Amino acid sequence: MGTFNITVIPGDGIGPEVTSSAVRVLEEVGAKFGHKFNFEYSICGGAAYDKYGEPLPQESLQKCLDSDSVLLGAVGGPQYDDLPYEKRPERALLGVRKAMGLYANLRPAKLFDALADVCPLKHAKNIDMLVVRELIGGIYFGEKGVRMGKYGREGYDVMCYGELEVERICRAAFELAQKRRGKVTSVDKANVLKTSGIWRKVVHDIHEDYPDVQLEDVLVDNMAMQLVRDPSQFDVIVTGNLFGDILSDLASQCVGSIGILPSASINDTTRGLYEPIHGSAPTIAGKNIANPIATILSASMMLKYAFDLSKEAEAVDKAVEKALNDGARTADLAQPGLPVLGTAEMTDTILKNL
Ligand code: IPM
Ligand code: MG
Repeated sequence: MGTFNITVIPGDGIGPEVTSSAVRVLEEVGAKFGHKFNFEYSICGGAAYDKYGEPLPQESLQKCLDSDSVLLGAVGGPQYDDLPYEKRPERALLGVRKAMGLYANLRPAKLFDALADVCPLKHAKNIDMLVVRELIGGIYFGEKGVRMGKYGREGYDVMCYGELEVERICRAAFELAQKRRGKVTSVDKANVLKTSGIWRKVVHDIHEDYPDVQLEDVLVDNMAMQLVRDPSQFDVIVTGNLFGDILSDLASQCVGSIGILPSASINDTTRGLYEPIHGSAPTIAGKNIANPIATILSASMMLKYAFDLSKEAEAVDKAVEKALNDGARTADLAQPGLPVLGTAEMTDTILKNL
């Protein structure tokens, strides 16, 4: 029996719909298992810009810092495309991650048996990987600006990784691999980038502390190819912020749809940020079409990692799997002969299975 204070950031686009699905699931888990989840809402992203003229007001951020953990939908939308960089909705997401010190972003991509035919890869099976993306360093947070250069105005973004930043994300990856199949693939571009030189050296130094884990290095271009060729060869994939952003979207398609991929952004404390890896999908927002599974599974990761409620997390995962096994499909997973459910109906189905 516990009481947990969750800050919810619905955000923009489909964010409010998918977070409301996950909140319904958490409420049901609370009722079934005797926990109390208190929900506090925080306005961030485009929604905050519309209301306050800035994407991450101090009060919204404070609510995240004061909570036991944060559940986020998505931020962004085309109406914000022309805003100055500092006002863009994405600044809120990067700002929350940075302020909370969430250096490790775990993005599991597992193929559900029921979705083998939805997966675009022929003969796909045994796909079960975990992308461990460094989240608060690298090129997304390096020095950046616009200046006059030889070819006119030029934009620049500096990619930089320090040894301690690499060390902590690698340790996270090795420790996760020990609880899985014991293999880590470190992705870099060491044939070109100095950043990757340091990255690779640190990964190998740290590896000495984890002799039971197998380590391989793969260059990022080859990795993109390998993920499509045979994703079943990978267990834990550890990489920097930029490569992790790109490869995790790719990994999502290896298992059918980006609509089912959750994520946990964590550090060495129990407070984290849990969010689907998909974006705000503005073209389908407000239509009850979006797949709530990624956010529901993110809530499950919160139960497990933030609140140490593994049994409850497993119950949620099972409820999702049963819904898929019983033929429940949202539009992104549509299959001939199976009715397409809306966001709310998919959530109802999952709730019934809990
Ligand atoms: C993600 C998203 C974000 C990122 C954007 C919205 C800033 O693409 O979570 O993968 O790049 O981290
Ligand atoms: Mg992304």
